[in-house]
Amino acid sequence: MNTKLDPWSSSDITDYSKLFEEFGISPFENVLPEIPSPHKYMRRKVIFGHRDYEQIAEAMRTGAPFSVMDGFMPSGRVHLGHKMVMDQIVWHQEMGASAFVGIADREAFSVRGFSWQKCREIGVEEYILSLIALGFKPEGLIYFQSGCGSVKDLAFELGAKVNFSELSAIYGFSGETSLSHMLSVATQAADILQPQLEEFSGPKPVVVPVGPDQDPHLRLTRGLAGKMNMFKVEEREDVKTGRKYLSVRGKTAQKEALQELKKRIPGKVKLYEEHIDVLEYPDLAGLEKIVREVAVELGGYAFIPPASTYHRFMSGLQGGKMSSSIPESQIALTDDPKEGAKKVKRAKTGGCVTLEEQKKLGGKPEECSVFELMLFHLLDDDRELLEIRQECVSGTRMCGSCKQLAAEKMHEFLKDHQEKRELAREQLDEYRIIYKN
Ligand code: TRP
Ligand code: SF4
Repeated sequence: MNTKLDPWSSSDITDYSKLFEEFGISPFENVLPEIPSPHKYMRRKVIFGHRDYEQIAEAMRTGAPFSVMDGFMPSGRVHLGHKMVMDQIVWHQEMGASAFVGIADREAFSVRGFSWQKCREIGVEEYILSLIALGFKPEGLIYFQSGCGSVKDLAFELGAKVNFSELSAIYGFSGETSLSHMLSVATQAADILQPQLEEFSGPKPVVVPVGPDQDPHLRLTRGLAGKMNMFKVEEREDVKTGRKYLSVRGKTAQKEALQELKKRIPGKVKLYEEHIDVLEYPDLAGLEKIVREVAVELGGYAFIPPASTYHRFMSGLQGGKMSSSIPESQIALTDDPKEGAKKVKRAKTGGCVTLEEQKKLGGKPEECSVFELMLFHLLDDDRELLEIRQECVSGTRMCGSCKQLAAEKMHEFLKDHQEKRELAREQLDEYRIIYKN
């Protein structure tokens, strides 16, 4: 069966394991040991999957340049779901990444019909203030898509490498889909590849932390990265001897480019009309590095396919899906702290109907939205969380005490966050923000 991932619908994704098989997303556990000091979302399996995160982990360990990139469509109020993404951006920035945040006003304009003015207001007032309040540092770049010339230019170029059939296969676009909507998709791919442009010091690993609904964008962008590149490195096998070797195709490259490349590769190299066979250089990563250097020097592209991480979504506070259209299902970062605390107290738990029953049978933390709030946002101490879980399961903990604790923590968090938002408002000038003019 086909799992449809649609970034613009609100379909529930319940079975995450399907994503592994169908879309080639790898379990996050595999890279966890390679990460110096993993974020709590990683330790707690909130982040469950990734593509190519090995290269990010390696960059963090070795101090090599890498980036984190994410985008937000300015569509409504900023809430806990956005906080999850923002926390990850800030964390990667702390781990040494150069950070890029795009406010997807092109997407809001084309998909939601919002005016530029409205996009700007929501972009600043909701998303940017909270991003800064959550710790985003001024070295990072924040831009509105429609104010960013390099993103728009790149989007147009990328558009030459994708046609309507591909877009409809990925997104289910039809004859009714507007040209602007399609352009917003190309723009998003440009968002993701921009950190590797020469003006941001060239090719490097980039990680895009997203929810699984955004994966179609990543698949498209990874494909486009390959299509834009001047060279393509492949592993080949000699049919007669069975010997493995590497081969570089110059897809968009001129003859001179291949000749230049030939000079730089050590060992035995054979130059053909449109490719080079590399017979004595078994180091794929090393060869890719040489190839990237030559491509960039000659003015071509050498994008590394973007890496990504995938996080679970929190369920709604009343059960079901967390959704902006149901205010009771979620907590906005600008909710009055008292109101936020009340929402916690009204939330659905995994407890039993009567206290007696609960003492006998225990509760179900995995079906409890209060527990989820603590797991995702409110408790930093893994041990405390584990204790709560054990007490719950064994029937020694009652929901009232969890709700009390979570409500207090939520109140505290919202109050503190909103104070920081006001500070952020005063510091906006210190940030690199590209607005639409
Ligand atoms: N499509 C994303 C959303 O709906 C926003 C977005 C724009 C984005 N550009 C991006 C996400 C680049 C990740 C990377 O919110
Ligand atoms: Fe949830 Fe706590 Fe109740 Fe367990 S005791 S179901 S964790 S609220």
